[in-house]
Amino acid sequence: MTYLWLKAGHIIFVIFWMAGLFMLPRYFVYHQEAPAGSEEEAQWLDRERKLLKIILMPSIIVVWVLGLALAYTLNLWGSGWFHAKLGLVLLLSGYHGYLAAYHKKLARGERALTGKQLRLFNEVPGVVATLVVILVIVRPF
Ligand code: HEM
Repeated sequence: MTYLWLKAGHIIFVIFWMAGLFMLPRYFVYHQEAPAGSEEEAQWLDRERKLLKIILMPSIIVVWVLGLALAYTLNLWGSGWFHAKLGLVLLLSGYHGYLAAYHKKLARGERALTGKQLRLFNEVPGVVATLVVILVIVRPF
């Protein structure tokens, strides 16, 4: 019973986290289309800050806590698929960290990536999430 509640909570917060990870680079694309120093740019900075603070930060914490609680409950530390999943989720957490840093750069007026690069970068969470779901459901190794 505890296991099922942990798993439900885990998946709910995975959805919130992934939604935020898909939205933020998209915000960056629109942000960078606004003229530097404009009122529109200030609005994008505010939206990005809220997304990071209200959605992304709480979600990543809950996903990790519930995911590790599940691993502890099921004693998965020796499973190959679980190690691979952890590696991919660490990558996703690093991606999250990069987005937070990129938001700070934008706030300082630095636009390090082009719109095209940001659009390409936006594909990362989709690819990683696909691999993670295959690992947890199919468990190929
Ligand atoms: C943040 C670190 C994470 C940890 C430590 C973790 C760990 C776990 C564990 C131990 C389970 C239970 C597996 C089982 O029922 O046998 C699980 C289930 C699941 N996880 Fe994660 N997870 C994490 C992040 C993610 C992410 C980012 C995704 C998707 C992108 C994800 C998708 C899922 C899904 C779909 C299930 C349900 C699998 C099933 O039906 O059994 N997890 N997770």
